[in-house]
Amino acid sequence: MKKETHIIDSTKQDTSEKDYSKYFQTTYQPPSLKDAKRRGKEKVQFHKDFTIDEDLQNIGVGKKFMIRTYGCQMNEHDTEVMAGILSDMGFESTTDTNEADVILLNTCAIRENAENKVFGEIGHLKPLKLEKPGLILGVCGCMSQEESVVNKILQKHQHIDLIFGTHNIHRLPQLIKNAIFNKEMVIEVWSKEGDIVENLPRVRKGNIKGWVNIMYGCDKFCTYCIVPYTRGKERSRHPEDIIEEVRHLARNGYKEITLLGQNVNAYGKDLEEVDYGLGDLMDEIRKIDIPRVRFTTSHPRDFDDHLIDVLAKGGNLVEHIHLPVQHGSSDVLKLMARKYSREHYLKLVDKIKTKIPNAVFTTDIIVGFPNETDEQFEETLSLVKEVEYDMAFTFIYSPRDGTPAAKMEDNVPMEVKKERLHRLNAVMNEIFLKKNKALVGEVVEVLVEGESKKNPDVLSGHTRTNKVVHFQAPKSMIGELVNVKINDAKTWSLNGELVKTVEVSQ
Ligand code: SAH
Ligand code: SF4
Ligand code: F3S
Repeated sequence: MKKETHIIDSTKQDTSEKDYSKYFQTTYQPPSLKDAKRRGKEKVQFHKDFTIDEDLQNIGVGKKFMIRTYGCQMNEHDTEVMAGILSDMGFESTTDTNEADVILLNTCAIRENAENKVFGEIGHLKPLKLEKPGLILGVCGCMSQEESVVNKILQKHQHIDLIFGTHNIHRLPQLIKNAIFNKEMVIEVWSKEGDIVENLPRVRKGNIKGWVNIMYGCDKFCTYCIVPYTRGKERSRHPEDIIEEVRHLARNGYKEITLLGQNVNAYGKDLEEVDYGLGDLMDEIRKIDIPRVRFTTSHPRDFDDHLIDVLAKGGNLVEHIHLPVQHGSSDVLKLMARKYSREHYLKLVDKIKTKIPNAVFTTDIIVGFPNETDEQFEETLSLVKEVEYDMAFTFIYSPRDGTPAAKMEDNVPMEVKKERLHRLNAVMNEIFLKKNKALVGEVVEVLVEGESKKNPDVLSGHTRTNKVVHFQAPKSMIGELVNVKINDAKTWSLNGELVKTVEVSQ
């Protein structure tokens, strides 16, 4: 296993030539997708002793930080950890760019448009940096694991002070210090399989819903996907650490937790000492006094019977299953290396529906995978009609450098891909609306999360099945579980009125 620290202290000279090494005080080794792909036999190292050196604990006193988050829940949660570390260094948080002394962009590499947004923001921040040279601008998250991104920043965006990777978050105190005092671009990106660092501080966003990582990384290597390269290998936290964190959230009044991982159904497979999986973990968490427990994301391949049996016990385990299918054609699924067929997926859905009759399914779908034929796309349409999802995220395939699919020749023009996305969304929206309309007249349990974005006089929250509900109620109810009668259904949300009955349909 390659575990190298690539610290580069660049001078901010012209780096427009290909060989950047002459500009660095130490040997320049860029992050490497090739190294990141390696999966060795070494055991995952658990580090339980995170501390911030005394000389770094006050470095942020009187200064403010801001973190912009792009990407998935994993990144959202990493942002909470970085906010925790920065707070422990004395920094205060701000939402005003002009007030910030440190701005971090926690980036996502999943599709090209996600990366374009970040590069747009990097450009926007340049005038601010020129005006305020003491400002520390940092780029972290999945994009910083990509060699091409680091090189582009070096070539075109020398106003960036700090780049660090997803495996380097616990190094933030030292990295911030280097960035403040060195006046040179600091880059630290480890291309490695990954360890687990426990006991990191966190400043959570809100006190109603909390994220809990149960595992990191991904070993699935779906041919289109960059995540296994940016997040390292699948590695599970110890059950006792997870359970302690959930108990802590319960004690602090949190109403809902979401167990997080790129492929949570693989939880425990790498734990050598115990034979313990997601079903076992959920069975223990279900006994903790917290009203709602979710998990995301499920890979259909590893969804086992034990997990279904545990979920069927209900209680705080909600009846919402996000089960990304990606495509409706077995041939495309094979090219995607999803390792299940359309038939396997449909059988799994049936099995879950049999054991959990009120289960609600949501999904992710990619259209326009290289050489996708019209017939294959039609198979996606027929699958979504068969499953009748309640909600979905749909994407046009975006080639990611270094992944196998990016090397495939592609005969599908972008116009056709856009058209297919449009058709898919039209079919899906009709299903979402139909599903939502079926709830009109029903009473549902809603976790009140806050004011609605559009109208502060209206409160909003989610059902157990993760549907957004808007209704009028006193603000004092924020953070409570209430019953709402649905009287109007839209494609993406429901409107209702507060009721006092205790009868709840879902
Ligand atoms: N681990 C999750 C997915 C995380 S990424 C799973 O396997 O289900 C979230 C979604 O982004 C994926 O489900 C997929 O639909 C989409 N996605 C990933 N890579 C993509 C790419 N290269 N182009 C378009 N969409 C992509
Ligand atoms: Fe990407 Fe596949 Fe892993 Fe999901 S399971 S993160 S799509 S490689
Ligand atoms: Fe994006 Fe990284 Fe998540 S690529 S989707 S932020 S794991």
